[in-house]
Amino acid sequence: MSFTLPDLPYAHDALAPYMSRETLEYHHDKHHLASFTLPDLPYAHDALQPYMSKETLEYHHDKHHLAYVNNGNNAIKGTEFEGKSLEEIVKGSYGKNPAVFNNAGQHYNHLHFWQWMKPNGGGDKIPGNLEKKIIADLGSVAKMKEDFIQAGVTQFGSGWCWLAVKDGKIAITKTANGENPLVHGGKPILGCDVWEHSYYIDYRNRRPDYLKAFMDHLVNWEHVAKMYDAAMK
Ligand SMILES: [Fe+2]
Repeated sequence: MSFTLPDLPYAHDALAPYMSRETLEYHHDKHHLASFTLPDLPYAHDALQPYMSKETLEYHHDKHHLAYVNNGNNAIKGTEFEGKSLEEIVKGSYGKNPAVFNNAGQHYNHLHFWQWMKPNGGGDKIPGNLEKKIIADLGSVAKMKEDFIQAGVTQFGSGWCWLAVKDGKIAITKTANGENPLVHGGKPILGCDVWEHSYYIDYRNRRPDYLKAFMDHLVNWEHVAKMYDAAMK
């Protein structure tokens, strides 16, 4: 999906004195060039119940993700990151511009998080190529699930746990706040959000139960396999 900025249907100074050239330069050329937009969820808000409630998705997608989109667009305005791709913004702002990085990182993470889940997902039915690689690099599917959950449980405070491809191998990692494997030289193929806004309504303080439900009932392994194939190219 990409958006393009149309040319104005008249010169920038054609509406003066009622709307100045300067106003149109700012309003059209800069403000219209919004980088981030909130995508619709790829399923209904109640489609992941009982493992993730409608209320959680209403807050998490409609409010939290929207805030990252809006705050990100505001933070990017007038910086070197305007007009760049999301991956370029995430990597380029890491360690340099926290306001841009935190919101761009979380926008990237959530864009994928919605796709990494589906109704009746999870379980052990993993597409062949990916399953073989998981067994080769991480021991077994059961061990991968156990270690992924453990990474999420032991991430102190807000953050994410991941399956990521790095140097041709799949590794399990965890990161704090809005960080992700992109800024550590890897390519994320699966991530689980362990910020409290992702589970507190449904699981209260039981983060391990949330991670187990994510693995057993929610993961969209077909989407993970697609990202794995792309990461190995
Ligand atoms: Fe989140």
